[in-house]
Amino acid sequence: MAIKGLIRDVTSVTRVIKRRERAHDNASTEPNTFDNIGEVARALHPGKISLSISDIRKELDYTIIKLTGDKIPYFKPGQYLSLEFKYENYLTTRPYTLISSPKHALRNDKYVEIAIKNVGNTSKYLCESLEVGDSLNAEIALGNFTYEPLRDSKNVYAVAEDINTSFIRSYALSIIDGVIDCNLTILKLKNNKLIDSFIPECERINVIEIDSINDIKNHLSNDNSYFISGSSKFTHSVANLLSENGIQNRRIRKDYYDSIISDDVKNDNSIYEIEVLRGIESTIIKANANETIAVALEKNNIRIHTACRNGICGACRIKLIDGEVYIPSDNENRRKMDIEYGYVYACHTYPKGNLKIKISIN
Ligand code: FES
Repeated sequence: MAIKGLIRDVTSVTRVIKRRERAHDNASTEPNTFDNIGEVARALHPGKISLSISDIRKELDYTIIKLTGDKIPYFKPGQYLSLEFKYENYLTTRPYTLISSPKHALRNDKYVEIAIKNVGNTSKYLCESLEVGDSLNAEIALGNFTYEPLRDSKNVYAVAEDINTSFIRSYALSIIDGVIDCNLTILKLKNNKLIDSFIPECERINVIEIDSINDIKNHLSNDNSYFISGSSKFTHSVANLLSENGIQNRRIRKDYYDSIISDDVKNDNSIYEIEVLRGIESTIIKANANETIAVALEKNNIRIHTACRNGICGACRIKLIDGEVYIPSDNENRRKMDIEYGYVYACHTYPKGNLKIKISIN
């Protein structure tokens, strides 16, 4: 049998060579311009797309928005979309976690859902002003708070502060739909009411109530991956607790929506001037000391690309030519080369005096 198999293998190689030669001889002389890899890249990262609101409903303090569109790309649980909208008299963006299952992005009735909490001026504005039928531009899918089977354990433990619980919904739905293969244990803080109404039941999803983050110590193992989401203060304290108790760094995943801003900056009402260079154009704008450079640019209708708005993704990278700035130290994610060559992330940088910056021409 083994010899027969070997002969068959040798003769098949000869057949393959002949087939290739025939294909080569019969091939068209026209160049093949179809770019397969480019097509896949464009399908996964279509850039800014137009979405329309097909449903709005309330769940506890959240407004759940269902968005439909033709070109919704596939995404991973834990990712977010960046929503573009007009606020006051300028265009801005905000990131919102995707809470639906990625499977719905592939079906005929393509849709994604986001949850907006009724806090903060811009989110409040969105909750009150959006209506079914409205069209909005958005960028999907962004962020890397995702499950990677090569790195993460099959036992995922999720800990979230109330406002950031929404990412767990997408994880839970992805497990039910078979998009990701892991077991999910939710360490539910006592006051987090959202988990009960927000998370579907499934035998691979387990909810354990804890009184405080200190109780996480009862659920420690390097066989688990810990996904922590919330404010910077919350996320860092849970991560520190895990590290101090022997959990390896690769098992700790963090996602936070804010940074700790010093009181001096928060209370500084100074107004500075920023000279903005764009190509050969130079514009002088006013900027508040307690607002980021990105906000100052938006308020002056100068557009730059923004996504996470928390100094993580680098989309809003600009060159600082001159002047002093404040960057929250708890969340410094700039690449080494950016730091070395004087680039800052505009969404996460505050002026401490007059500045000169250079932005790209969009
Ligand atoms: S928008 Fe992500 S770093 Fe500024």
